[in-house]
Amino acid sequence: MSEPPILALDGVVKRFPLRNAFGRRTETMTAVDGVSLTIARGEVYGLAGESGSGKSTIARMILGLTPPSEGRILLDGADIAATAGTRAFGRMVQMVFQNPGSSLNPRRTVGQSLAVPLAAHGLARQRRAERIDELLATVQLPTDFAARYPHELSGGQKQRVAIARALSVEPKLVVLDEPTSALDVSVQARVIGLLIDLGRRLDLTYLFISHDLSLMRNFAQRVGVLYRGRLVESGPTADVFTTPSHPYTRLLLASVPVISPEEAAMRPPLPMIGGEVATADQLLAGLATDPPNHSEVSDR
Ligand SMILES: Nc1ncnc2c1ncn2[C@@H]1O[C@H](COP(=O)(O)OP(=O)(O)OP(=O)(O)O)[C@@H](O)[C@H]1O
Ligand SMILES: [Mg+2]
Repeated sequence: MSEPPILALDGVVKRFPLRNAFGRRTETMTAVDGVSLTIARGEVYGLAGESGSGKSTIARMILGLTPPSEGRILLDGADIAATAGTRAFGRMVQMVFQNPGSSLNPRRTVGQSLAVPLAAHGLARQRRAERIDELLATVQLPTDFAARYPHELSGGQKQRVAIARALSVEPKLVVLDEPTSALDVSVQARVIGLLIDLGRRLDLTYLFISHDLSLMRNFAQRVGVLYRGRLVESGPTADVFTTPSHPYTRLLLASVPVISPEEAAMRPPLPMIGGEVATADQLLAGLATDPPNHSEVSDR
């Protein structure tokens, strides 16, 4: 038998209560609307979508930080509803958050921050210092950084520490929620290079979340596009970039910089409505009335 995917989302829905100015629950909003996807061991899956499309909500559910309203999330074939919050769960899946500054405790040195998960997972005190040196080396930081405080680090260095901390318990799956969006473009490229390299060496599986599809081109084997809580596109990266099946993906791709005329020629045509490039809202209206044929909105 083939092994189960490391991660499977099966019809996952997340609703949030909306409250009025007096704090009373009025109605609910659906942030994630029936998302199903699987990620194979060792794969890099890129999840793209505009701000508010539900990316971080999906990440938080996978980490067991908030339960789905409907549907199931399976890690290695087992429903996380039963295991979230346990140490065994922490060894399976870890997350790197968007803002490297706020994810580190300002009153702890880098070494102390890295020691917390090691201690929680039962590593003996004598082994911890050695392991901290190893982790810093893994993310290409000098070992004397263990004595520094977060305010003594650059944004890129802080994000390296956050990556080291996520990797410290040797998880199988790492969820990266916009891991480089707070960084300069040059630092971004280096942190992504580091993630690719570590992923290969440590046999990691990544769920890489970003609003920026261009970052996924060279990083992810498959990508999914989230639009208002729905997964409107999912497939091998090269296919999605050259022949996207959903018009919203074409709008997203239109903002991806091209590096050569050949690439520009391969870019799919933009969805048009009445001679104008369609807006996301027009696409949604098309989606809402006629989901199976939504791609026909284009080229009219
Ligand atoms: N705890 C919450 N209570 C109520 N609404 C929430 C909560 N968390 C998220 N939302 C709403 O759910 C929707 C999706 O939010 P989410 O943070 O998942 O988006 P995102 O795709 O990560 O956006 P961004 O790119 O800006 O980080 C938004 O409309 C947001 O306001
Ligand atoms: Mg987010």
